[in-house]
Formats: sequence, structure tokens, C-alpha cells
Amino acid sequence: MLSREMNEKLNAQITHEFYSSYLYRQMASCLNLMGMTMMESYFVAQADEERQHAIKLIDYVQKSGGKLVLGAIDAPAHDFKSALAVAEATLEHEKGVTGRIHALVAQAESDKDYSTRSYLQWYIDEQVEEEASIMELVQLTRMAGDNLLGLEDRVEKLLKARTPIPAQDLGV
Ligand SMILES: [Fe+2]
Ligand SMILES: [Fe+2]
Repeated sequence: MLSREMNEKLNAQITHEFYSSYLYRQMASCLNLMGMTMMESYFVAQADEERQHAIKLIDYVQKSGGKLVLGAIDAPAHDFKSALAVAEATLEHEKGVTGRIHALVAQAESDKDYSTRSYLQWYIDEQVEEEASIMELVQLTRMAGDNLLGLEDRVEKLLKARTPIPAQDLGV
């Protein structure tokens, strides 16, 4: 059984995962305007993954006898000036998400809610992967400089190497 605080914090995280999806969709469209179609596809895939993160948590809240209450989603920034600005903002965003997941773990531990603590391990591991792949994207974008076609080639390879979240991990 979830504590009231844990339920509220999980609801806030679900809303925030949808916000991440929203942000990455907006970024994808900014990249489309820049003519960066591969990087656009990368962010569309990223947006879909964030939606899956939200759905996986919804499933957990429901299974744990909690009540889902979705919050309002803020409008994301839309004035990114370059692919590098998008990549750097993404890394900052993901670092923030990692902090939020860690705060959820702290709540679960203070509640002695070992089920939620265990469930959140998936998100901790996922954040390690996310930060590593976005750091790689930032590095590639920095190194590419003005060679945007070269960057598109490299991002295409990253995109092909992406592994979708396995269905059994989604629990739905
Ligand atoms: Fe996420
Ligand atoms: Fe993420």
C-alpha cells in the first residue's frame, strides 16, 4: 500500500514523464525546422520512450492500490537556436529527472515501502542509460561543429543502435 505522500509523488512523476515526452516532441519539431531529420527522429523516439515511462508508473500506482491524479503539463521551451542547444538542454533535463527519481527512492525508504523501492530500481538504471546516451549525443554535436550532415550520419547510427524498452519491463 502506498503512503499518501508516495502516491502524490508518483503522480507528480507521472505528470513529469509526460512533460518529458512533451518537451522532446517540441525539440523534435525544432530540429525539423533546422533540417535535422535524423536528430528529429531520435527525439521522436525519445518522446515515445518517456510516454512509456509514464505508462509503466501508472500501471504501478494502480497495482499498488493508489489513485492516479494527473497534473497540468507546463509548456516546454521552443526557442532552441541549434542542435547543440537542444542536446545540452536535454542533458540538463535528464540530470533533473535523475534527481527526481532519487527523491522518490528516498521517500520509499523513509516509508519502509520496499515494494516501491524495488520498483524504482528500474528507473534508476534507466536514468544511467539515458544520461550516458545523451552525453554521447552532446559530444557528437559539439564535435560536429558546422558539419551538420556528418552529425546526421552519426545520429542515424545512434538511432539504429537504440533498443526499445522490452514489453515485459513495461508491465502492461
Ligand atoms: Fe523518463
Ligand atoms: Fe528520459
